Amino acid sequence: MNEPKYTIAVIKGDGIGVDVTDATMAVVSAARDRIGGFQLELNELLAGAGYFKETGKDVAPNTEAAAGEADAIFLGAIGLPSIRHADGTEISPHLRLREMYQLYAGVRPIKAYPNAPQRLADPRGDEIDLIVLRESTEGLFYSAAVHNRCPVDNDNEVQDILRITRPTTERLHDFAFKLATKRKARGHKGHVTCVDKANVFRSMAFFRQIFDERAAAFPEITKDYNYVDATALDLIRRPWEFDVMVMENMFGDIISDLAGGLVGGMGMASCAEIGQEHGLFQPAHGSAPDIMGQDKANPLAAILSGALMLDYLADKSGQPQLAKAAELIEQAVEAGFAANRIRPMEFGGDMGTIAVTREVIEQVKSVKP
Ligand SMILES: NC(=O)c1ccc[n+]([C@@H]2O[C@H](COP(=O)([O-])OP(=O)(O)OC[C@H]3O[C@@H](n4cnc5c(N)ncnc54)[C@H](O)[C@@H]3O)[C@@H](O)[C@H]2O)c1
Repeated sequence: MNEPKYTIAVIKGDGIGVDVTDATMAVVSAARDRIGGFQLELNELLAGAGYFKETGKDVAPNTEAAAGEADAIFLGAIGLPSIRHADGTEISPHLRLREMYQLYAGVRPIKAYPNAPQRLADPRGDEIDLIVLRESTEGLFYSAAVHNRCPVDNDNEVQDILRITRPTTERLHDFAFKLATKRKARGHKGHVTCVDKANVFRSMAFFRQIFDERAAAFPEITKDYNYVDATALDLIRRPWEFDVMVMENMFGDIISDLAGGLVGGMGMASCAEIGQEHGLFQPAHGSAPDIMGQDKANPLAAILSGALMLDYLADKSGQPQLAKAAELIEQAVEAGFAANRIRPMEFGGDMGTIAVTREVIEQVKSVKP
């Protein structure tokens, strides 16, 4: 058989990262078996807090280079609060991967599934279907500890930098408008909201100025602006009105957790981090030490990130079977929830990681594509 083969660098990481990665690879493999037409080769790489505790290094030798050579990177979760560097910060080599491969576009879909928890009393909460697009290489994370870029860092004072550059911001806003265009073709609104704090910070006024400049090339997409504090409010009172929301790194970090909470919790929060040449896919949650090793983690955030990975590979390669496999996984999750056959413990249900994964695989095998 001459099927095209794609290499996935797999970093399971720490805590529940290991379980949800195993779950994702099982589901992705079931989708591949059903759709066919491509092969996946998994290359497991070691990294994380557990690895650091054993070896004093946060990644195994050549991990970063091997991740860069793969067609896509999948990451479970990295970090354990009990294991830290001498300066008190946590083990976070994944931030270095973002920087190294300039994974500027953090795509975080927020979608309400039937029978999953509805956190809002308003019934329109079941229409929530939006994307938080978080810039992921600069903003207030530019001087994150792992990069060692604090301009002032002494016993008396510490400063961090919020950095907005034109090239990254142009790429980010173009990504937002292209994503809205793709979503519009699938029946969404075709609307982008610029979330900023342009009333106070010059960096944010610059972010908004570039948003307007790039919007001109996408006349079929509507746009508006929302200050980040008002966005926190509006995500509670009218989240169903948003489509694509584009924002600076730290704002995206916080807003995406808030939005994830609206549709259940972190166990539903999938994530893609995309650059010009590379893509990294991971659930937006961490290693959840409070539930690790107990088969309680909801694997759906990771599984849906696996679908984002297949969709990315489809765009990158032009191979339509990959896009079909991605869609199949999304349909399987939707159908499982609709039939009340997916009941994660995270939402008070009776199904742990293994049971949810088994059911998604059953749906992948049987749902009508
Ligand atoms: N990208 C990453 O790898 C990443 C992201 C966030 C946090 N972290 C790290 O993870 C560790 C724990 O961080 P935290 O506790 O702040 O965040 P967390 O996301 O790990 O957990 C927050 C809460 O959500 C719950 N939760 C998270 N994922 C869940 C899932 N799939 N199913 C059910 N419940 C889930 C946890 O049980 C916990 O109560 C820290 O070391 C942190 O640095 C890593």
